[in-house]
Amino acid sequence: MERIDLLMIGIGQLVTPPGNVPRCGQQMKEVQVIKDAAVAIREGRIVTFGPVELVLERLTDIEVAAIVDVGGRMVTPGLIDPHTHLVHGGSREHELALKRSGVSYLDILAQGGGILSTVQSTRAASEQELFTKAYRSLDEMLLQGVTTIEAKSGYGLSVEDELKQLRVAKQLNDMHTIDIVSTFMGAHAVPLAYKGRTEDYVDLVIHEMLPMVAEHGLAEFCDVFCEHGVFSVEQSRRILLKGREYGLIPKLHADEIQPLGGAELAGEIGAISAEHLLAATDKGLAAMAEHGVIPVLLPGTSFNLGLDRHARARDMIDIHELPVALSTDYNPGSCPTESIQLIMMLASLNLKMTPEEILTACTINAANALGRGHEIGSIEIGKRADLTIYDAPNLAYLPYHFGVNHTFGVIKNGKVGVW
Ligand code: NIG
Ligand code: FE
Repeated sequence: MERIDLLMIGIGQLVTPPGNVPRCGQQMKEVQVIKDAAVAIREGRIVTFGPVELVLERLTDIEVAAIVDVGGRMVTPGLIDPHTHLVHGGSREHELALKRSGVSYLDILAQGGGILSTVQSTRAASEQELFTKAYRSLDEMLLQGVTTIEAKSGYGLSVEDELKQLRVAKQLNDMHTIDIVSTFMGAHAVPLAYKGRTEDYVDLVIHEMLPMVAEHGLAEFCDVFCEHGVFSVEQSRRILLKGREYGLIPKLHADEIQPLGGAELAGEIGAISAEHLLAATDKGLAAMAEHGVIPVLLPGTSFNLGLDRHARARDMIDIHELPVALSTDYNPGSCPTESIQLIMMLASLNLKMTPEEILTACTINAANALGRGHEIGSIEIGKRADLTIYDAPNLAYLPYHFGVNHTFGVIKNGKVGVW
C-alpha cells in the first residue's frame, strides 16, 4: 500500500449498507455498524476501513499525509438525491393560496400554471441566472450531506431551451463539489404552443430533441411524466424506447396521481427506475420487481401537496421485495425543498420506513437508480470516498430529531467539501 492522503479517526459509528448492488426487501434493514471506526483514503478512494485498531495495524509503516479526528460522530456514505428538477427559473409561491384553497396540481397545470409557469421563467432566464440559482441549491444540498444528485431538464420544452437547461447542469457538474447526473425530460409537460396537439409535441421530442441531446452528450437518462392529461402510456413508451436507441437509459414519473399503468410500463421496458408511484397497482409493482426496476419514492411531494395518500413503501419492501430509493424531487412546484433530511423524516413518518431502510434508500439504492452502484452509495474498498459526518449518535437520531440539519461535515472524492 502506498501513502495515505487522509485518515479519518474518531468515528463513533460508521454505518453503511454493504456491497454495490441494490438492496431489496428485507436486505434494506441490514446495514453494517462499526463502532470506534476509521477510514483511510488515497486519491479520492477508500483504501481501507474498519475498527480503528485494525485500520492502524494495516497502515503500519505507511505514510499518512493528514489525520482528521471526527470526535465520536457518526459517518455514513455521502447521501445521494436521485430525482431533482434542479435547474429552473423563478419560483411559484404565487400558487400557494390556490393550492391551499384546494385547486389540484393537475388543474393548476391545465390552466397554464404549474410546470408551464416555470417554463416561462426558465425560458426568460439567462444561462448565468439559471447557474447562479441552481448553484445556491447545490450549496444547500451539500450542507445537508448530499454528494451526488440527478438533475432533470423539462422546463424548456423547446429544442433550444431544453439544451440550455442541460448545458447549465453540465457546467454545474464541472464547477460544484456535488456530482450531477443529467436526465433529459423534454416530455415533462405539453408546452402552450402545442396545446391540444400532444402527438405533435411527442414528435418534436423524438425527432428533434432526442438527437440533439444525444449528439451533444448532455444526458445519461430519459424521463417522461406519464400521467393522465400529460403523456399517455403509449406516448411514454415511444419516447423512452427512442431515447434508448440514442443511448439514454429510461426512467419514468409513474402513477403519481392516477393508476395509469406507468409502473407496468417501467417493468415492460426495463426502466432503471420508476418514480412517485403513489397510485401504482400491485400488478405494476410486481412487474417492476420482475424486471429489477428501482422505485424512487418522494414523500416530500405528497406532504407538500397536502395529500392523505402516500406511496406504499411497506408493501414495496415487505411484499414485492423491491429496492426502494428516496429523493427530494426538489422542484419549484410540487416540492420546493433541497432538504434530504426532511425527506428522511417524512419517510419515517408517512412511509413507515425504519432508519436502516432510510439510509439504504438514500445511499446504495439511490446510487443504483443512477447506475452508479459500483462507484458510490456504500463504504467499500475501492469506492469513491464520499462520506457524510453527522452530529448525531446513531441512525435513528436523524429522523427522530427533526427540522434541523444534523450534518457536521462532508468529504467528497476524499477532499473536505464542508466542515
Ligand atoms: O416530479 N410531476 C411532475 N413533475 C414534478 C413537478 C414539477 C413542477 O411542478 O414544477 C414532480 O413532482
Ligand atoms: Fe419529479
